[in-house]
Amino acid sequence: MKIISISGEDVLSPLDSPTWKPEHDLFAKCEAYDEPERARALGIYPFFRPIEEMDGAEVLCEGKRVLMVGSNNYLGLANDSRVVDAAVQATRKYGLGCTGSRFLSGNLIIHEQLEEALADYIGKDAALLFSTGYFANQGALTCLFEDGDYILCDKENHASLIDGCRMSAAKIIPFAHNSPESLRRRLTRLPREAGKMVVIDGVFSMSGDIARLPELMDVAGEFGAKFYVDEAHALGVMGPDGKGSALGLGVADRADLMMGTFSKSLGCMGGFLAGDEDVIKYVRHKARCFIFTASPTPAVAGGVLKALEIMQQEQWRIVKLWENTRRMHRGFREMGFHIGTTETPIVPILIGDEQKAFFFAQRLFDSGIFATPAIYPAVRRGQAIIRTSYMATHAPEQLDYVLETFERIARELRIFEDDVYQRAAGEIPQRHHDSSLPHPVRTVAV
Ligand SMILES: Cc1ncc(COP(=O)(O)O)c(C=O)c1O
Repeated sequence: MKIISISGEDVLSPLDSPTWKPEHDLFAKCEAYDEPERARALGIYPFFRPIEEMDGAEVLCEGKRVLMVGSNNYLGLANDSRVVDAAVQATRKYGLGCTGSRFLSGNLIIHEQLEEALADYIGKDAALLFSTGYFANQGALTCLFEDGDYILCDKENHASLIDGCRMSAAKIIPFAHNSPESLRRRLTRLPREAGKMVVIDGVFSMSGDIARLPELMDVAGEFGAKFYVDEAHALGVMGPDGKGSALGLGVADRADLMMGTFSKSLGCMGGFLAGDEDVIKYVRHKARCFIFTASPTPAVAGGVLKALEIMQQEQWRIVKLWENTRRMHRGFREMGFHIGTTETPIVPILIGDEQKAFFFAQRLFDSGIFATPAIYPAVRRGQAIIRTSYMATHAPEQLDYVLETFERIARELRIFEDDVYQRAAGEIPQRHHDSSLPHPVRTVAV
């Protein structure tokens, strides 16, 4: 056995012994983790389905054509030939990738053009691109806080916000979902002089409900807290020209920072942060996941610039998206499904039991519908859902087929009689009326 030195003391190293085995094998959990195999054995594994072709609202998957109601391609721009052509053109001009960080050799003029276009569109001084939306949240939240600062984080915020909060130096104070009263109680207990920021999704990615921004901002304002809105699912969906929830609710001037992704309505990938010039300059020079990663590809920048232009020119997409959304809200509610408090194209169908949700998703797929279940940790335990989402390019017949199929499978699987379902249905608030979507309808400029 070899002698090694730890903090100046000589000790025998066990690593040299041929018989020595670690008591705790780091990889033992991987071998023991057999949930995917068990679901596969039952023929209900719903994840990582390989898509062979994408064609508007339909995709070719596992050899068959299925209707997609599980994407975030709200405006149908992901396959738009004009967006694809713009991405190809940018690729021809600049190449496939930049092989470097924006900070060093990867800064292209087309990145700066997109930043200007985004800042202009969202009505902020400046914008900063990130390689993903996840990085935009992580980058901003990790670099803006110091010891002694506080982040007030809605309990149902997206994982990228929560991870960003966890990685920051601030103390995280969770508040009850979408509750100005809870936010007020939390803020009251914090030192008045401390740096604070409220962080929230504009539209919640699983429940589809809309943040009560005006009321939450009123409370934040009373305590001098800054305000950060993740517009991932609101961009292209809410507000005039799809400019997001803060603009749609008339409170964009009170959002200190707005974040958005390109991976949803804009049909691409990547993300951005928008705010005051000084703050964006600071994040540009400090955010580690901006500095230490390669810049977004030229194809992303070119494609998103085009998608942004089309989104503003073709208002019919947002109008159609909301028509489809209303049709599905009404349809599911009339059939007795529990769709929670959604007010947006994200329509979660409560199933409750995780395995039943897997069976449900498989039956949907067998019937030609692509939608995936969301289980813990995306939702609470015992509150599994089939997360559906709708697009401007879905035809009424396609949507009616989705409704009929859901009704048939729910009857076959006796969803509503299930104990887990009933418990979850009692716990999750529900909007019973067709809310006629007051916020988005009022704010979509048509
Ligand atoms: C609310 C929210 N924020 C951020 C993200 C991360 O975005 P991206 O997929 O572009 O990394 C997502 C993605 O699902 C999201 O739903």
